[in-house]
Amino acid sequence: MNPLNHVAIIMDGNGRWGLKYKNSRNAGHRAGLNTVEKIIRETIKNKINFLTLFAFSTENWKRPRKEIDYLFNLLENFLIKRTEDLHKQNIKLKILGLKKFSPKLNKLLNISEKKTSKNTKLQINLALNYGSKSELINAFKKIKKDKAIISEKNLSKNLQTKNIPDPDLLIRTGNTKRLSNFLLWQLAYSEIFFEKKLWPAFNVKDYNKIIREYRSIKRNFGNI
Ligand code: FPP
Repeated sequence: MNPLNHVAIIMDGNGRWGLKYKNSRNAGHRAGLNTVEKIIRETIKNKINFLTLFAFSTENWKRPRKEIDYLFNLLENFLIKRTEDLHKQNIKLKILGLKKFSPKLNKLLNISEKKTSKNTKLQINLALNYGSKSELINAFKKIKKDKAIISEKNLSKNLQTKNIPDPDLLIRTGNTKRLSNFLLWQLAYSEIFFEKKLWPAFNVKDYNKIIREYRSIKRNFGNI
């Protein structure tokens, strides 16, 4: 059975779900947050150590201001209400991406990261204002500045994911088969599952089904 140490998720489909069932994209984001909560609980039950969630890409800034504000407001409320509880559950929160938000959100993110930084049960990496291409370019720039050699090891240690093992499993919901500039380097050998359901409709049963399938795959990393 394959070990499962790190699950990464592209949580796609909130907007479509919201429009279909509530006539509002933002209602989809609200419902998406409920799915996040359920998936965090199930990740702990499955004894998985790392969960990386793609919550906002560098390309998502193209969205209408109203939707962006709603998303960040959801996140602020989540951090205010849930940081203490995450901490009690021994969960560490880490932000991947550039923390260039409102002073209020930047501060809340820093507080949550700092408070939970020593926790060991589950590390949640929240990819926010994250784009893999710019992460890679910055890593190459750093290697050049340090006059170091270009190697896999040096590249990996200059990524924002340094000290985080590569994902074993990537799940993308929302019936779309693309990576959307997410962890392009880190996903080189991950098992990828594209799920038809929209993120708010994705449930614990669906998650466990994918985990079971993942565990039964023969992973040979280029070997036979
Ligand atoms: C993609 O769906 C989802 C996002 C851009 C935001 C993800 C946010 C959440 C799941 C809720 C907030 C999470 C936290 C941690 C506060 P989409 O809007 O691109 O859907 P579409 O493809 O149907 O338009």
